[in-house]
Amino acid sequence: MSKLKFVRHPHPSTTPADKRAAMLANPGFGRVFSDHMVTIRYSEGKGWHDARIEPRRPIEMDPASAVLHYAQEVFEGLKAYRTADGATMFRPRENARRFQQSAERLAMPTLPEEDFLEAIDQLVSIDRDWIPDGDGSLYVRPFMFANEIFLGVKPSSEYLFIVIASSVGSYFKSGADAVAVWVSQEYTRAAPGGTGAAKCGGNYAASLLAQAEATRHGCDQVVFLDAVERKWVEELGGMNVFFVFNDGSMSTPPLGGTILPGITRSSLITLAKDKGIAVREERYSFDQWKGDAHSGKLREAFACGTAAVVTPIGTVRAPEGEFKIGNGGSGARTEELKTALVDIQRSRAPDPHNWVHRVF
Ligand SMILES: Cc1ncc(COP(=O)(O)O)c(C=O)c1O
Repeated sequence: MSKLKFVRHPHPSTTPADKRAAMLANPGFGRVFSDHMVTIRYSEGKGWHDARIEPRRPIEMDPASAVLHYAQEVFEGLKAYRTADGATMFRPRENARRFQQSAERLAMPTLPEEDFLEAIDQLVSIDRDWIPDGDGSLYVRPFMFANEIFLGVKPSSEYLFIVIASSVGSYFKSGADAVAVWVSQEYTRAAPGGTGAAKCGGNYAASLLAQAEATRHGCDQVVFLDAVERKWVEELGGMNVFFVFNDGSMSTPPLGGTILPGITRSSLITLAKDKGIAVREERYSFDQWKGDAHSGKLREAFACGTAAVVTPIGTVRAPEGEFKIGNGGSGARTEELKTALVDIQRSRAPDPHNWVHRVF
């Protein structure tokens, strides 16, 4: 139970049903927003306080707010799904925990798990009508930033936690098809001792130039190699990666502080093990990737994350050339794991690990 008292100020004129239906018809990703938001304030001395559910609106900030200068900001992303009698979310406590870990790395106060969960439950509950039917979902975005008005470089003494929600369809424009990825040789995402394992805005700012380079080369996502040897595959700009081999086994890069510990990644490892599939958390180099794709040892590769779910990787492109994985489309193992995951997320299959959280 959250110790905070969440005060509700419902929107006086929510979006009319017909207008909302038109917005939900083809929402894309991250452009359609629900009617409300949750805010919680933090200040040194007072701690977390002033929790509200209120109409979504612009926030006023002083130009000297710390986040605008030193990027002290962390965020999360998870999806809510429509059910016959309400809504569900997938493993939200894992997001609450990762949010705390990200906050610690950025020298920010940690929001108690129960307050995080209450905040997202409240928003999904009040904006349930914004969950699209069919394959869509409501992407819930909790975030927190430093808003002390001070230009000195130090941890802020004040923070604002906010949750907004966006009705979404497929993340990639290409829908369910296999994506092409660009292996960045010039840029890295995270170095040992850095913030790679934290979900902080700065990591994404630093990835944008590499992502733009990927787009310029006709690719959907950038793949980052490790920052020390520039050799080992780490992860994509916004997702983790798995490899499927011809002996039926799978591998994924190990968590070591430089990649984001994805909740989808951890769920897929569990589901694969449930099915008796051998999964190794093991380093895999770009040269191995290329060699195994050519020899046929590597059968499939896929990206995974909340936004992308499970997306097959068909083509790998780098400055020296490109190669295809399998037939360049999706593979049987990728589809099998995707179905197993999505069926649990959407309450179409039993939930043996108790991952599905109900919102009423
Ligand atoms: C850099 C990065 N890696 C991996 C992931 C996948 O994490 P999750 O499965 O928890 O969404 C994300 C998305 O949140 C991400 O931004």
